[in-house]
Amino acid sequence: VYDSLLKCLSEKTKTPQAQIAKIVFSRTNPSYTSVLRAYIRNARFNTSSTPKPTIIVTPLSESHVSAAVLCSKPLDFVFKIRSGGHDYDGLSYISDKPFFILDLSNLRDVSVDVADQTAWISAGATLGEVYYNIWEKSKVLGFPAGVCPTVGVGGHLSGGGYGNMVRKFGLTVDHFIDAKIVDVNGAVLDRKAMGEDLFWAISGGGGGSFGVVLGYKVKLVPVPATVTVFRVEQLMADGAVDMVHKWQFVGPKTDKNLFMRMLIQPVTRNKKKTVRATVVALYLGKADDVVSLLSKELPELALKKENCTEMTWFQSALWWDNRVNATETDPKVFLDRNLDSSSPGKRKSDYVATEIPRNGLESLFKKMIELGKIGLVFNPYGGRMTEIAEDATPFPHRNMLYKIQYSVNWKESSPELEKGYLNEARVLHSFMTGFVSKNPRGAYFNYRDVDIGVNDHGEDSYKEGEVYGRMYFGKNFDRLVKIKTAVDPDNFFRNEQSIPTLPTTK
Ligand code: FDA
Repeated sequence: VYDSLLKCLSEKTKTPQAQIAKIVFSRTNPSYTSVLRAYIRNARFNTSSTPKPTIIVTPLSESHVSAAVLCSKPLDFVFKIRSGGHDYDGLSYISDKPFFILDLSNLRDVSVDVADQTAWISAGATLGEVYYNIWEKSKVLGFPAGVCPTVGVGGHLSGGGYGNMVRKFGLTVDHFIDAKIVDVNGAVLDRKAMGEDLFWAISGGGGGSFGVVLGYKVKLVPVPATVTVFRVEQLMADGAVDMVHKWQFVGPKTDKNLFMRMLIQPVTRNKKKTVRATVVALYLGKADDVVSLLSKELPELALKKENCTEMTWFQSALWWDNRVNATETDPKVFLDRNLDSSSPGKRKSDYVATEIPRNGLESLFKKMIELGKIGLVFNPYGGRMTEIAEDATPFPHRNMLYKIQYSVNWKESSPELEKGYLNEARVLHSFMTGFVSKNPRGAYFNYRDVDIGVNDHGEDSYKEGEVYGRMYFGKNFDRLVKIKTAVDPDNFFRNEQSIPTLPTTK
């Protein structure tokens, strides 16, 4: 397989085999393991028993990507595409069938045009690199995307993308102007060439079902010269239940400039188990204004000026990345790709359409104490989100009050413990059924969760795809399937949760 792939890549790119061999890694290549591990961001899939790819290709140019698609097609391998490797269930770099990985981490150009307030962002760039490049050129432009700087553009942008400016500016995909993709015929297409249907599909429907995304042209957004961040904790004994209950009425409805994430975590205090609720916030404005706003709207939080820090928008991105001294931190840390290895973890998601009653929250906190480790993150929507139609992009959950992320990480790598933590996530998800969206129960595509269904791409592919597809995309699933059927009828671009083609009528 290696030899025939090398030969084909060399022919298609008109490059000598010795040169192309530098971007093709088989298992016998001494760099294979480090190339594979460089972008595994969930240590649960970085073990000796994790399935490994037969070959990894690391393109350096668009023509390498086209050739990789064309040369892989005749071979019977699943073709996995990886940009930043942050897929929560590892779908960009594992498979239970023989597979290749196309790793785009070398295609990482970011070019910012301040006059035009746009940027070209390549799939292999990280969000940290995007923010850094914007900061280098302007202190009053920003970009509404995820809060973790190591997340890759390829998966994050094609799958929706949200961050702490979601209430003011909506999702990342709401800022797309153009895109470039390599299709199943190896053609490089921009928005005009791919057409509005495919452009719509890769604006939230995930790139991996439709082709290889090379990058996006995006509109940047104005940010004030000074923003405010704060973090305030409350335990149950301090009134956390009341505060969280009230937050549900304020977080999604307050001033669009304010994003208050709520973290809910079981903790032990004075040898007693309790729950800690932490509000982590970004306010696109001054500290005095947000303190005054919340003294009226959410007095239960008791926010004080001394809880707040004013800084630039870029520094706030560092702060959200848990850098306590954000104002002292070297901005170049966002360019660092030599990260510590990640810990094992599991994520799930839900959407809340109506506020959970106070006694419901009490029972939830009790359940979390009983389970012991799993935490929840409530991310408020409202604001700009509700102004955008549910079918404007494949992302349908525009009118929800907030999204829940179920989050558990652990250090120990014993299979027994892992089983226990995965079970906590599933039990809590099941416990929440009465409180969250229904028919279909929603889930966020970028919080990949194989528990909600996987696709074997056999005879029942459409039916299997409909299960997770409706949860991620609601009614937009139908349009995604039609586009998929038109652009990739033989289902070359597939993974465990990709969009299926329409079933053929016999
Ligand atoms: P990865 O390379 O693993 O790809 C993810 C998926 O996209 C795979 O199915 C892959 O095949 C496909 N894909 C990747 N590149 C492609 C390309 N060029 N063309 C076609 N398909 C491609 N989300 C969010 O919205 N807001 C947030 O703040 C965060 N924060 C966050 C923090 C951390 C630590 C993690 C691990 C994850 C997040 N996420 C998130 C979720 C994140 O948006 C999601 O995992 C993205 O898919 C990650 O994109 P990567 O390119 O890094 O992943």
